[in-house]
Amino acid sequence: MKKTYREAALSGAAEYRSKPAPLMLGIESSCDETAASVVRNGREVLSASVHTQIPVHRLYGGVVPEIASRSHTERIGAVVRDALEKAGVTLSDIDAVAVTCRPGLIGALLVGVSFAKGLAFAADKPLIGVDHITGHIAANYITYPDLEPPFMCIVASGGHSHIVRVDSYTGFRLIGRTRDDAAGEAFDKVARAMGLPYPGGPELEKLAKGGDPNAYRLHTAFNEGEGYDFSFSGLKTAVVNILHNAGQKGEQVNKADLAASFQRAVTDALTVKSVRAAREANLSVLALAGGVSANTCLRERLQRECDKYGVRFCRPDMKYCTDNAAMIACQGHYELLAHDPSPLSLDPNAASFLQEMG
Ligand code: KG4
Ligand code: ZN
Repeated sequence: MKKTYREAALSGAAEYRSKPAPLMLGIESSCDETAASVVRNGREVLSASVHTQIPVHRLYGGVVPEIASRSHTERIGAVVRDALEKAGVTLSDIDAVAVTCRPGLIGALLVGVSFAKGLAFAADKPLIGVDHITGHIAANYITYPDLEPPFMCIVASGGHSHIVRVDSYTGFRLIGRTRDDAAGEAFDKVARAMGLPYPGGPELEKLAKGGDPNAYRLHTAFNEGEGYDFSFSGLKTAVVNILHNAGQKGEQVNKADLAASFQRAVTDALTVKSVRAAREANLSVLALAGGVSANTCLRERLQRECDKYGVRFCRPDMKYCTDNAAMIACQGHYELLAHDPSPLSLDPNAASFLQEMG
């Protein structure tokens, strides 16, 4: 008699683990990027296709969830086909399917999860749900083939700012988190207040290049304190107040100076706390992850601080900093080595499992 899907998925997972170079198809649709990628043995990226929705959301100054879901629905088939073609494989060559199932916009996640379930079921392949934040951390494995846990990681994305202790490929401990806005969210809000387009982080970085980071002192006592938690909403409010007060008095603000000072305050907080967390935990490696890891000022600041204390600093290649599916396939590989595949009842969840730990 023909196997049930669950039986096929379990034997597919055993086969995956026994192969010297299994192929994982990764699918990502948690926010405004539809992405697919084929990764060999968890580390070697054979293809990475991304369709970005940024130009559409830019018209509204931020991500519009309903538009995101519709765009994912329209694009996901073509993006997956493109990733398979670029890798020179067909669906039957794939050994398992990994998909972002949390955190993110629920409607957007639902598109990727439903598509991945359909593919896995139709092709009798194991399915593995991946937490997007752990995917961002795994982007470092692609850039550094020798990198292995344990290490400390500073995750700075649009929705999360966490210091995470990576005990193993699938074992994480939340050491610190933001009490309010995430770092990327603060970048986006400050950029918006300055009249810059969405997503604000890269635009603010460009503006800050010509500015003096010492022009405004925006540091807060909380971020300079002993704990590992962050707070970015006070910084954001300070910038908005400077803009507002100058506007009321009819004075000009040097926006490049303000952007550079804000960027300095955020990168200082992320750097000092995360390097201290690595040192205090006696970990010799600190990794950076999440969309804000594309920020050159942050990468350089962390490198300098790590050099000061003899800590190895790792950060993803630029193309794997923001949302992509290679990182999901990579983390999915390690999840499937460690656990049973996900059931077809896999549900998307708006929250990260790391948030539930905090
Ligand atoms: O990880 P990501 O692509 O999506 C989420 O999982 O949230 O992160 C997007 C965030 C946005 O807030 C964006 O403004 C920020 O990362 N970002 C940056 C830079 N590039 C992206 N922030 C500062 N400097 C950058 N160069
Ligand atoms: Zn992300």
